Amino acid sequence: MRKPSSGQPAGLDAWDETRSLATHAGPDFALYVGDSLDCLAKLPDESINTVVTSPPYWAVRDYEHDEQLGLEDEVDDYVERLVKIFREVYRVLATDGSAWLNIGDSYFNKQITVGGKPPRTGWKRNKQLSLVPFRVALALQDDGWWIRNVAVWHKPNAMPASVRDRLTVTWEPVFLLTKSERYYFNLDEIRVPHQTSDAIERRRAESGTVTGKAQGKKELRKWLNSPRHRATIEGIKEVERRPNAPAAVELASYLRTALKEKKRSIAWVAEQLDLPFERTRHYFRTDEIGSRLPPPEVWEQLKDLLELDATYDEAMTVEVGDNVFRNHPNGKNPGDLLSIPTAPSGANHFAVMPRKLAHFALKATLPMNGSCLDPFMGSGTTGRVVRELGGRFVGVDVNEHYMTDYLVESGVISPETETLW
Ligand SMILES: C[S@@+](CC[C@H](N)C(=O)[O-])C[C@H]1O[C@@H](n2cnc3c(N)ncnc32)[C@H](O)[C@@H]1O
Repeated sequence: MRKPSSGQPAGLDAWDETRSLATHAGPDFALYVGDSLDCLAKLPDESINTVVTSPPYWAVRDYEHDEQLGLEDEVDDYVERLVKIFREVYRVLATDGSAWLNIGDSYFNKQITVGGKPPRTGWKRNKQLSLVPFRVALALQDDGWWIRNVAVWHKPNAMPASVRDRLTVTWEPVFLLTKSERYYFNLDEIRVPHQTSDAIERRRAESGTVTGKAQGKKELRKWLNSPRHRATIEGIKEVERRPNAPAAVELASYLRTALKEKKRSIAWVAEQLDLPFERTRHYFRTDEIGSRLPPPEVWEQLKDLLELDATYDEAMTVEVGDNVFRNHPNGKNPGDLLSIPTAPSGANHFAVMPRKLAHFALKATLPMNGSCLDPFMGSGTTGRVVRELGGRFVGVDVNEHYMTDYLVESGVISPETETLW
């Protein structure tokens, strides 16, 4: 596995300029009032480390502004507009930057008819789930973004619905998008405690389940044979790792070039290495499915055989570590299911992102002193968490009055009058 990027704070040089062009600014924030597409055009290239945002969902709410996103007649127009805005987000994002995008879905509730009847084909029919988040995600992927996760924001306090012919919707997708294959992601900041230790697992296996002893024995046997248990009883086992190894496809194209230069074939390599052709071929395959990294001993032989230069010397260096089955000391990867209650409506906004959701995202992707953008900031939940974490915030909203609370907290407007404009 390749190491993620180390994450340098982006946009520090341009921070004064970013603040000077904003409608409201302070030492750690710059707020722009207007349509996102227009406002983002004012931001310098690659000046943002991460984005945490939730745009208006399609056909759900009226934010009472002529330029608002979300009230397009056709979902395709909504997707197109959001993709255009995200093209600007892409430009302002650092190469190792990332964007968390939360979008909810909606049901199509128009009865379109052709000759007095519902159309025979096409999905645009009353009661269809519009799948808007996924239409957006696919369009963004086509536009050049990497989609790294579709995290599930599960809402344990989701409103019960009165529907009787489908399930209540209790979750929304949160996409993790990146600009490059390698990007800043601080997993250590969001690790969660391991829930089981070997001793607990053994006890659980021995005592069995509610179905009785036989089940317990079966479980125990399964556990005793598990690689995890074998590793435990065999003690610390030495394993070889190449933590900085390149992707197999990358190495394969490098090997192919070397092979071409030597005017040799894969069959010749297989023969020299005394390996089956079928196995050797995988080291030269440049497709994700078939490509494999050669093991350390084969790599050494390939180096001699193809007279390879030092490009991959460091990356292919083998480290000897201990037992791979041991739990990570800082906890485990939290997984992509985020169970977070919805936030109550704020005094000035009715679709507020839960602080916990923004906090989770930012802990992972906002580097120290880094910059974060929310192109649909609303009441400024993202901005508040960015401040807690010591970062710099750039917020945009078409409705200036939603920014009131954030501006009061930032000392820009007085809590008594709550007005500056
Ligand atoms: C879902 S809310 C964001 C809520 C925010 N995450 C919070 O915690 O308060 C979406 C916001 O997008 C804003 N908005 C709508 N159309 C916009 C546009 N074209 N450009 C910028 N902001 C827009 C709305 O005014 C609204 O505040």
